[in-house]
Amino acid sequence: MGTRTLIRGGLVVTAAEETHADVLVEDGRIAALAAHGTEAAAAWTADRVIDAREKYVIPGGVDAHTHMELPFGGTFASDSFETGTRAAAWGGTTTIVDFAVQTQGRSLRSGLDAWYAKADGKCAIDYAFHMILSDVNERTLKEMDLLVEEGITSFKLFMAYPGVFYSDDGQILRAMQRASANGGLVMMHAENGLAIDVLVEQALQRGETDPRFHGEVRKALLEAEATHRAIQLARVADAPLYVVHVSAEEAVAELTAARDQGLPVFGETCPQYLFLSADNLAEPGFEGAKYVCSTPLRPREHQAALWRGLRTDDLQVVSTDHCPFCFKGQKELGRGDFSKIPNGLPGVENRMDLLHQAVVDGHLTRRRWIEIACATPARMFGLYPKKGTIAPGADADIVVYDPHTEQTISAATHHMSVDYSAYEGKTVTGQVETVLSRGEVVIDRRTYTGRAGHGVYTPRSTCQYLN
Ligand code: URP
Ligand code: ZN
Ligand code: ZN
Ligand code: ZN
Repeated sequence: MGTRTLIRGGLVVTAAEETHADVLVEDGRIAALAAHGTEAAAAWTADRVIDAREKYVIPGGVDAHTHMELPFGGTFASDSFETGTRAAAWGGTTTIVDFAVQTQGRSLRSGLDAWYAKADGKCAIDYAFHMILSDVNERTLKEMDLLVEEGITSFKLFMAYPGVFYSDDGQILRAMQRASANGGLVMMHAENGLAIDVLVEQALQRGETDPRFHGEVRKALLEAEATHRAIQLARVADAPLYVVHVSAEEAVAELTAARDQGLPVFGETCPQYLFLSADNLAEPGFEGAKYVCSTPLRPREHQAALWRGLRTDDLQVVSTDHCPFCFKGQKELGRGDFSKIPNGLPGVENRMDLLHQAVVDGHLTRRRWIEIACATPARMFGLYPKKGTIAPGADADIVVYDPHTEQTISAATHHMSVDYSAYEGKTVTGQVETVLSRGEVVIDRRTYTGRAGHGVYTPRSTCQYLN
């Protein structure tokens, strides 16, 4: 017989309900739940008992948007699969879905194989992949079918970054038609990249080189326009659509309008858009470079629409878009030219805590916290109920969460391989205490007990959010 672990006395919170229950874990899976204090629960024995009194017992977080080691802007994202997944575990996330990248002129296969190799044997927690399409052609389209069968069931396309990841509307339509036929889900980076590049050039000509101009040229209207266009293309293709890193109020309005018509259109936002703003981009002394990502941080007024969208289910998922670049040597590449600052923010370690703070602040209910951070990303990307919930048969990916302890977020104490925190000095209430990944304790009362290679590659089914 394998090992049995008992998590006793906590408040079990899932997207569906909250119950005072004991959770029995056996051989890496959840074997049973029983109401705390009942005879059934009292009779359970285990090799290890975790005391969860006064704590929440929640599913491990599912972060459906990370970029470990991403080559971008002439450099690489500073977290490897090893450091990034360890940091994720510290933050109560037990599954990431990262993006394998197709290089222009190369096959999806070669890109995917490169990402399998990067992650293999390195991860502290389980992982899966989406595929970035940078070169949509006949061969790519055929390969999409094979990838769906292999468990890579979602494809990111870019309306931004001409010359790098950009696809034109014809390529996007073809990829959507293919996804409509093979069950794949198209994820869209919705910004009008051609128009943005004109504004970038004009800003630089005027001598507007500081990081804050990154936010000014990447206009909310150009996010909304691209979001609208992506929705119409998806309608024409009869395909579902998932818009990533939504930041503009006007883009939320496009998603809301589409959903009000009953269209299968979904939206993701990220903690940086909920907690940070264009004010950060305007911090003096090139500090603003720390906050350069795309879509950009918006004026604070946009946040209300994002919170509302999360409450009304016009936005369904919060992922991090974790794509860290060190301030020293990486963000600094863009001194004197904001367009050369590598785009991306660190955050894989902070998401669960920041969203718990949103519960404390009254933006979300506890169950909605778990829904947007665990259950819905798992369903959206074909990992449910293995991931994203606490139920018999599910993987024992479980976080014992202390909702009372205060902590101050800082680069001095975080575990991500990046020399700053986007949330430096922010105090939040709540802290991850213990984390199980497939039944193995990887964080034990705030000590790391995991190991590189414990995490395994997890193939996915097609989107489960449509049915
Ligand atoms: O700025 C960002 N978001 N960097 C990562 C790449 C992407 O577009 O998601
Ligand atoms: Zn209680
Ligand atoms: Zn993107
Ligand atoms: Zn991204």
